Amino acid sequence: MIWIPEFKAFISRRLSLLVLATSFLCSDNSISCSAETAPLVEAKRGMVVSVNPEASDAGLQVLQAGGNAVDAAVTVALSLAVTFPEAGNIGGGGFMMVWPGSASGTAASSDPVCIEYRETCPAAISRDSFINEHRQEGHHTVGVPGTIRGLALAHQKFGTRPWAELVAPAIHLAKEGFPIDAALASGLNKLLTQANEFPEFRRVYGKPDGTTWKKGDRLTQPDLAGTLSILAADGPDAFYKGAIAQKIVDEMKANGGAIASEDLAGYRAHIRSPVHTTYRGYDIYAPPPPSAGGTQLIECLNILEQYDLAKLGSKSSRAAHLIAEAMRRAGCDRVRYQGDPAFTQIPPALVTKEHAKQVSQDLRLDQATRSEDLAKDIKLSDEPPSTTHFSIADGNGMAVSNTYTLQNSYGSRVVVRGAGFLLNNEMTDFNWQLGVTTRAGRVGTEPNVMAPGKRMLSSQCPTLVARDGKLLLVTGSPGGRTIPSTVLCVIVNLLDFGMSLRDAVDAPRWHHQWFPDRLQFEHLGDPEFAQQIIELREMKHDFGNDVKKLGDGYRRQGDAHSILIRDGLLKGAADWRRTQGKAAGLP
Ligand code: DON
Repeated sequence: MIWIPEFKAFISRRLSLLVLATSFLCSDNSISCSAETAPLVEAKRGMVVSVNPEASDAGLQVLQAGGNAVDAAVTVALSLAVTFPEAGNIGGGGFMMVWPGSASGTAASSDPVCIEYRETCPAAISRDSFINEHRQEGHHTVGVPGTIRGLALAHQKFGTRPWAELVAPAIHLAKEGFPIDAALASGLNKLLTQANEFPEFRRVYGKPDGTTWKKGDRLTQPDLAGTLSILAADGPDAFYKGAIAQKIVDEMKANGGAIASEDLAGYRAHIRSPVHTTYRGYDIYAPPPPSAGGTQLIECLNILEQYDLAKLGSKSSRAAHLIAEAMRRAGCDRVRYQGDPAFTQIPPALVTKEHAKQVSQDLRLDQATRSEDLAKDIKLSDEPPSTTHFSIADGNGMAVSNTYTLQNSYGSRVVVRGAGFLLNNEMTDFNWQLGVTTRAGRVGTEPNVMAPGKRMLSSQCPTLVARDGKLLLVTGSPGGRTIPSTVLCVIVNLLDFGMSLRDAVDAPRWHHQWFPDRLQFEHLGDPEFAQQIIELREMKHDFGNDVKKLGDGYRRQGDAHSILIRDGLLKGAADWRRTQGKAAGLP
């Protein structure tokens, strides 16, 4: 058993000192650290960067106790299911990229792999089941969860510590509780005022005395502790064939949901080969379909490699224009071609340099392409219309880049009765109405329509960047359709614009997804970027009237918890856009 509270307090004190000491290191390049950002943490023997301090610390303790990056990933993922219920989960799915590493530094002993644990469509659902459906939450929106099978597969292939030991910290957090932060307090309060139709959600996440949650209150989850204890004792099969499976099926039967015991028993996670390209001499590895995110990222990089972004500079309108045009083209190809590869033939050429050249032929340097002009084959109409990432590196060269999700924040809002965990609403990631693709962004193309046993298309894009066989960057982000754009921005900021990791994560981000034909910029309205935006408007980029300020800042795109590895030093940058995440390093 590795969970020792006294030891945790000791490590926390050590880490606070380390954080203080390293906070001076983050001003090494062009964009200075604002009060809103997190410190850059440096360490040699291990790094865990996630959205939640308790989860980062739990992962760090696994590394401290001799576990590797995959062992720590199992603990972080299960801990986030307790401490970050918005997206951390056991009732959802995701993608884990693993850099296997070797005993001698960061040179890979074997190729990186993608553990794919995306949810699937239950057998009872067919392509037209949702044609007249509009509700985005509830039992009908739940896909067969993949997280536990995914974590178990990663553990079986790479893990070194006993499964039960890795589940233990999450049990402790659920049983003893943890102090909630302001973001969780306000998220729960908001949901609790709306969740009348989800009584189990209210019972599990409501404050016991009936008042509203405040920062610092303690959230305990005894039912979830029970579920995790079963998982620790009986192993992952408990979720798919045993006591937990039975609770999920009972929950579905009682409320008109579609998941049956055969769906759970038949669920498989897969080990897949990542999609790959080279970008200015660096190797980029990202998840293959059923995530579209990796292919979109690689298509963007292949397009951008044809231009000298470094010479243009990060604040030039021409560089932003090229980034937007690359995103637009990759977004269009996603809609046209991508879906579950078991059900749809995706052209392998999408990730090639030749394809990038071909789709760039009509890219003008001085003017935005109209999204409509890219896909005359897709019929368009005018009908109106949460995830989390963590990065881990151990001291022996192994690393994990993991993104997983419940889809919306708090998923379907369905908490499995008596089991204390939320189920996803990932069925909303399928194209519900074949043939209805709108200028507002709704997609109705064939490759991602529902079918029994099919995986819904994802945008998740946990990414690994290497140079000469050595791992350089571990990154990824939540944010739905903006995910590959966020990852692209981090990579381009680092590799083209020469930013430090801290600045690459903090710099304002761009997003374009084909339709809506609109360029999003995090700092729209910020006088610092006014000239760039004027010039982009002159090139006919449409920003809409979307000058949204959130709180004291601007709109937030993603949450890219990242690690940079250079000369044996691990630099961890938590992204503070969503909540005060934490980079925890083992000196
Ligand atoms: O897998 C996907 O593409 C989405 N369901 C991810 C959802 C998401 O990132 C929401 N949170 N930010």
